[in-house]
Amino acid sequence: MIINTGSIVRGENYFARQNLIDKVWEVLASGNHILLVAPRRVGKSSLMYYLKDNPRDNFYFLFLENESVNNENEYYRRLLSKLLSSDYLKTKDKILTQIKNSIPAIKKVGTDGVEFDLTNKVDYLSEFTRVINLIDLGENKLIFLLDEFSQTVENIRECEGEKNAIHFLQTNRGLRQTLSDKILFVYSGSIGLECIVESLNAIATINDITPIKIKPFSSIDAKKMITLLLEKLEFTIEDNIIDYMLNEIEWLIPFYIQLTMFALKEIKREEGLTVISESIIDKAFQEMIEQKHYFEHWHTRLKNPKNPELYNYAKELLNIISEFGYIESNEVYNLAVKYNIENEYKNILGTLVYDGYINNDDNLKTYRFNSPILKMWWWKYVAN
Ligand SMILES: Nc1ncnc2c1ncn2[C@@H]1O[C@H](COP(=O)(O)OP(=O)(O)OP(=O)(O)O)[C@@H](O)[C@H]1O
Ligand SMILES: [Mg+2]
Repeated sequence: MIINTGSIVRGENYFARQNLIDKVWEVLASGNHILLVAPRRVGKSSLMYYLKDNPRDNFYFLFLENESVNNENEYYRRLLSKLLSSDYLKTKDKILTQIKNSIPAIKKVGTDGVEFDLTNKVDYLSEFTRVINLIDLGENKLIFLLDEFSQTVENIRECEGEKNAIHFLQTNRGLRQTLSDKILFVYSGSIGLECIVESLNAIATINDITPIKIKPFSSIDAKKMITLLLEKLEFTIEDNIIDYMLNEIEWLIPFYIQLTMFALKEIKREEGLTVISESIIDKAFQEMIEQKHYFEHWHTRLKNPKNPELYNYAKELLNIISEFGYIESNEVYNLAVKYNIENEYKNILGTLVYDGYINNDDNLKTYRFNSPILKMWWWKYVAN
């Protein structure tokens, strides 16, 4: 396994957790749709690629990332395009020609997608539904892996307002209800869909989807992953030092493990070390924190152009936690009063917990950072 500190990991570089994969297959095999629930950088996109790269018989995966899509028709146009250019349909010339001829807006079907005549007004949701109904899938099922789905909902809300965002959620639900004998959907997103939908008062639009939580690694899995990474590195780490490292990382998401191993590799390269000690691990954390860009997305994600007070609130809250190590829930509320957001603060708090910044797992009344790594980064670059 080779270190990768940012992009989607695939093949041998993906550490597959069988429990998680089994759970996904269990839900798909029972004909249900999935929402992958996990904070940033926990491995949602990589899991989607793993499924796509390792399909079971009769399941055909189509991966689509819709981070920049901001209207409903465009979303369904992309779904249709993906479907028509899929490997599954490629072998079915006759049906493809029939479909192509019946949708005049289609100019060309290529391997990467479909070229549409965009001046031709088409309702892509009904075309998509019609095409699915035309295809005889037999025993097979198509699985759409829709990454950054929650961002699409958020984009539509920002560009077209809440009504259209709710409509979008409703039409997606409609599709699931009418077509689930042929297609299933696996959704994910770097921002929490449940939080967005809740704030739109539209929970009913997603209550038919089975949520699957991608949890951080157990220390057993984290150790297995470190062992695999060490196979391609020119140093070893004693067991007790690995324990120290995991204890320091605390929130064992694979991204943090990868970053630590990368920093160790760089220190080893520069200093020619053969023994990794606790102080070298500490140094590796310091080096990681120096890399502003590794964590910048955690910060930018909080900025809310429509309501700067929400960002100011979240920022001060995290500043306090990064300085004192924790914040009490009464202080969380007092801060909301200070920013005049008593009605909205619970949603922000929920987002901060969902997105993996903070938790109150040890004590319901106090919030702490999930990992000292983000805490140190926040303290250095945002709080000061
Ligand atoms: N199973 C895994 N094995 C090894 N590394 C992993 C695994 N999952 C995630 N990672 C690490 O985490 C990083 C982020 O993974 P990925 O892009 O899949 O997460 P994500 O949840 O989709 O992130 P984002 O919310 O930013 O879209 C990878 O570059 C890699 O360093
Ligand atoms: Mg992702």
